[in-house]
Amino acid sequence: MIWEEHASLAPYNTFGIDAKAERLVHLTHESSVQAYYQHPNGYAKQTLLLSGGSNLLLCNDVPGTTARIAWKGMAITEETDDHVWLKVSAGESWHETVLYTVQQGWGGLQNLSLIPGLVGAAPVQNIGAYGVEVADTLESLSYFHWEKGEAHTLTAAECAFGYRDSLFKRSWKGKGVILSVTFKLTKHSHVLKTTYGALQEELHRMDLAPSVQNISDAVIAIRQSKLPDPKVLGNSGSFFKNPALSAAQVKTLASKHPAIPQYPQPDGTIKVAAGWLIEQAGWKGERVGNVGMHAQQALVLVNYGGASGPELWAHAQRVQSSVAEQFGVRLEPEVNLIG
Ligand code: EPU
Repeated sequence: MIWEEHASLAPYNTFGIDAKAERLVHLTHESSVQAYYQHPNGYAKQTLLLSGGSNLLLCNDVPGTTARIAWKGMAITEETDDHVWLKVSAGESWHETVLYTVQQGWGGLQNLSLIPGLVGAAPVQNIGAYGVEVADTLESLSYFHWEKGEAHTLTAAECAFGYRDSLFKRSWKGKGVILSVTFKLTKHSHVLKTTYGALQEELHRMDLAPSVQNISDAVIAIRQSKLPDPKVLGNSGSFFKNPALSAAQVKTLASKHPAIPQYPQPDGTIKVAAGWLIEQAGWKGERVGNVGMHAQQALVLVNYGGASGPELWAHAQRVQSSVAEQFGVRLEPEVNLIG
């Protein structure tokens, strides 16, 4: 456990916002969670639990204690002819973990290549891309519950996953910390998912047959072509969620805007593409001071350099109001607002 006072959080959020933490503790070992739990400045004074900072908009300095998840490690816990169970610590990089599984030829995570952030945060918002969500391969996770003062195991069903949603964003929000995640990966390629349009097109364009490695390569190519690298241009991926609307609402919208991309959901709602709405509202590539919606993907809010949290949030609200005015659709942020 390493403690700092008045520490800049700029290295720990992908928008690169220079907010200060009154007190920052780096939890470098899983065992330090127990010590942190018992520490007088520990979890009881915690106002922020920081993972990779890739889904976070810091609107102010952070009072109290900010705890950074920084413990690492990876182990196979079980293996059969068909599957391998891989337990990964919360502080491991998501993308490095995916690349490791891809190199081993284990299937399950390849569609989720190049997503920024750390493994422990992946289940919180059930990260998803190119037809796959983390919920599809997650077998269980280990969770340290602050009220109980100890770790216990949750199955995937107990995590109550939904679209960019889980128990940890709802009734268990702020209740504890994910210590590690166990994935059930497959040794067979017949379960590969390649139905997402953009992925199919990219595999075809690159002349690649579907395989764990090739899907990962194609996803990386697509993401690099439209999503800005946070190390170069501050951003947090999709800023808003794709709104799920009623069939009646979509029918009305589509009668005026036939090109609107639609994704029917199992519950009867229809998701529409927020990026399309933002582009049609005229915000794609439009820069206002240091901020704007990205020129290649209108769903991505970008810090062109030196923007503050409030500046970014003000722009997000401008876009939100403009889309609401033009289409009658309210966009909800996917990103967590702090302060
Ligand atoms: N579109 C536009 N203009 C834009 C952006 C998108 O018209 O500027 C249209 C596209 O042409 C396409 C549709 O919107 O018809 C969907 O676009 P895309 O495939 O890029 O996906 P998305 O819905 O914008 C979602 C996830 C991404 C994920 C991709 C691929 C959400 C909020 N976002 O984006 O996740 O990588 O699908 O599966 O669900 C993230 O969550 O941070 C993220 C990047």
